[in-house]
Amino acid sequence: NSQSNQFCEAGIGYGEVGCGLSSSTKLLIKGGTVVNAHHQEVADVYVEDGIIVAVKPDLKVTDDVKVIDATGKFVMPGGIDPHTHLAMEFMGTETIDDFFSGQAAALAGGTTMHIDFVIPVNGSLIAGLESYEEKAKKSCMDYGFHMAITKFDDSVSRDMEIMVKEKGINSFKFFLAYKGSLMVNDELLLEGLMRCKSLGALAMVHAENGDAVFEGQKRMIQLGITGPEGHALSRPPLLEGEATARAIRLAGFVNTPLYVVHVMSIDAMEEIAKARKSGQRVVGEPVVSGLVLDDSGLWDSDFATASKFVMSPPIRAAGHNKVLQGALSNGVLQLVGTDHCVFNSTQKAFGIDDFRKIPNGVNGIEERMHLVWDTMVESGQISINDFVRVTSTECARIFNIYPRKGAIIAGSDADIIILNPNSSFEINARSHHSRTDTNVYEGRRGKGKVEVTIAGGRVVWENNELKVVPGSGKYIEMPPFSYLFSGIDKADASYLSSLNAPVKRSKSTT
Ligand code: URP
Ligand code: ZN
Ligand code: ZN
Ligand code: ZN
Repeated sequence: NSQSNQFCEAGIGYGEVGCGLSSSTKLLIKGGTVVNAHHQEVADVYVEDGIIVAVKPDLKVTDDVKVIDATGKFVMPGGIDPHTHLAMEFMGTETIDDFFSGQAAALAGGTTMHIDFVIPVNGSLIAGLESYEEKAKKSCMDYGFHMAITKFDDSVSRDMEIMVKEKGINSFKFFLAYKGSLMVNDELLLEGLMRCKSLGALAMVHAENGDAVFEGQKRMIQLGITGPEGHALSRPPLLEGEATARAIRLAGFVNTPLYVVHVMSIDAMEEIAKARKSGQRVVGEPVVSGLVLDDSGLWDSDFATASKFVMSPPIRAAGHNKVLQGALSNGVLQLVGTDHCVFNSTQKAFGIDDFRKIPNGVNGIEERMHLVWDTMVESGQISINDFVRVTSTECARIFNIYPRKGAIIAGSDADIIILNPNSSFEINARSHHSRTDTNVYEGRRGKGKVEVTIAGGRVVWENNELKVVPGSGKYIEMPPFSYLFSGIDKADASYLSSLNAPVKRSKSTT
């Protein structure tokens, strides 16, 4: 099959034929250090038909089993990216990584599952889901869905219940920014938080004050600042802090858990820290760009270079990144996403005369595991167990699919990576697997390389070559009432009885 061979040369094989792919569904990973979030040990991992069957030292197997030597390497759960936008229609165009190219890139970087955001069609959740089900048919790895809520009425409320009870969606995202398109007001956010609570679904927020951002943008244009730096100047950390605080207070008022996506600033992080300290259930998700980059690229005199860094909330001035790394290591922030949302340089050029028209988004789905390893583990800021926790396990727990995902234990899905800590990686747009023609991490090198990725029991990345098959990825249904909801009803009951006490007292004294 000449076509599949051609793709093999290019590094992406489309099928078993002509790709030298073994059809074996039995695998033994020998002699590596198996790392889970809770434990690590030198052990073998035996896989059959996509499931981990045994994790024990010195397993003996028959000849028909493919053996991979992992001596001196770390065998870890495949990464789960909680935040991606594949094939999303946004800002007048569509992200150019679809469910095949984006996932192929993910697998090359050691991520074996992602959760993408379904965008409703004209406010309709059902139509939005149908459209994403269609987009996801070419998937080559497992995936789940969050759903955005862009309007609220009885029909949306009913459809939220259908999403949770019948469609495997257990999280809803509210955009407090993007005025005039995705943004919701406080009234809608409150309705949404209450509905999420009743369904056991996790409310997520994009926290920036969209009304103030709109004013900030006008202010920049009036000053004649039309380049990519105007994007950052128009939406300062102050506005991220405000919206984060507001969403947290409203979630506290409703008493429901809250997940803050793409925490980009110290301001937002400090609001999360304060809430968590008081006992409120708030999850903070930094993204790789916010952890490792600073805003200097936005000031590059070359538009193509500067515009590739435009995302929202903006990549902040140097200093925010280091503080966010600290917050990830001390537990104020719990898991790392990417917000992978890529537009090529032609699409970014829609905003050549006006930063407001530059499609927002950066890459990261392929780079996340390597950059978190290099930045956090190699620097000694987190342990290897915590690496597994922040790149995989915590996401599986929050979205209620642990330990099927996020763990290497008997019975779990065989989504596994082998990372060589003595090998190194280098990132550039020439060799990456995303369809975009730029990379915000261009030229970065670091220590630690994902040498093998196993997805659903199949070796899909080995010897720097991808062997991926469209249609092989499965939709992962995520049930409601994750651990974040445990005890919420008790807190409600004790709040109610605390209201009751003074009422009874006043009655008895009259
Ligand atoms: O710039 C970004 N983040 N684009 C994707 C949409 C979003 O806000 O998550
Ligand atoms: Zn091949
Ligand atoms: Zn967002
Ligand atoms: Zn996003």
